[in-house]
Amino acid sequence: MTNSDAPAVRITDLGKTYPGAAAPALEGVSLSVVPGEIVVLLGLSGSGKSTLLRHVNGLETPSTGSVVSLGQAVPELRGQALRALRGRIGFIFQQFELVGALTVIENVLTGGLATLRGPRVGSLSYPRRMREKALGHLDRVGLLDFAYQRADNLSGGQQQRVAIARALMQDPEILLADEPVASLDPESSSQVMSLIREIAAERSLTVICSLHQVDLALSWGDRIIGLRAGSVVLDTRTDDLTREEVMEIYGRVATTTSEIAALESELAEAREQVLTQEMRRANARENLAEEFANEEPA
Ligand SMILES: Nc1ncnc2c1ncn2[C@@H]1O[C@H](COP(=O)(O)OP(=O)(O)O)[C@@H](O)[C@H]1O
Ligand SMILES: [Mg+2]
Repeated sequence: MTNSDAPAVRITDLGKTYPGAAAPALEGVSLSVVPGEIVVLLGLSGSGKSTLLRHVNGLETPSTGSVVSLGQAVPELRGQALRALRGRIGFIFQQFELVGALTVIENVLTGGLATLRGPRVGSLSYPRRMREKALGHLDRVGLLDFAYQRADNLSGGQQQRVAIARALMQDPEILLADEPVASLDPESSSQVMSLIREIAAERSLTVICSLHQVDLALSWGDRIIGLRAGSVVLDTRTDDLTREEVMEIYGRVATTTSEIAALESELAEAREQVLTQEMRRANARENLAEEFANEEPA
């Protein structure tokens, strides 16, 4: 794309219904993200965040509407063209998705596999310039000293930083992050979120990151897009929000009181069912014990 004003991502009237699903996962979603923007997709579990992110790099096919990423109509891409687009879009996941038995540097190197032919075994099977690049990225995320350790020796926060280094191997233009800190403690979370922002600024990356915590979204993103039951219910910049507007975000994206009440009663019901089952089992055991006790000795 020669037009620098072109959006990095433009989604128009996107709808997605999974086969056999009763309700659509996404409905009438339209949004544009300009290059360099740091956008949070905010919504409860099940609101459609992952589904939306996965459409941006063609991991899902829309039921209706269009998705244009880096100037390309994503659903129309196949084979090499799709792989080439995915090479320009890094993706980091809640569960890091590292190969635990491989070393940290090997995991990072796999981020550059798209540019190589054939499988690789061991970091020495990669070209020297790639190894140097991988070490540079590990240095950037503060894990150079861990390069030759097994990935599963690292803490969750460290593993997510390895995943960031791996994504950087592709020199991405867009970084998608799907609840990148949902499995991390608060301190590692804030480290990882700051790191993503710093790296995005250094490399003029466009970032779309899903989160379910309103506070984190407000303090981290330049812009929040709120999803609820597959629809966009909010699209706002985070600077100069008033307290009232913040409260409204909680209300729209989080839950209504009636939804909370419904959830609570569902939980209570589930707990009661477990208790009832336990009581039934205890009764059965007692009855059995009684029967044995009452049996005439042979
Ligand atoms: N592969 C799938 N097949 C069927 N339904 C799915 C699939 N993935 C997600 N869904 C459904 O689509 C809706 C949105 O899910 P998802 O995009 O994962 O939301 P979120 O990431 O916000 O938790 C949910 O109702 C979920 O159950
Ligand atoms: Mg999700």
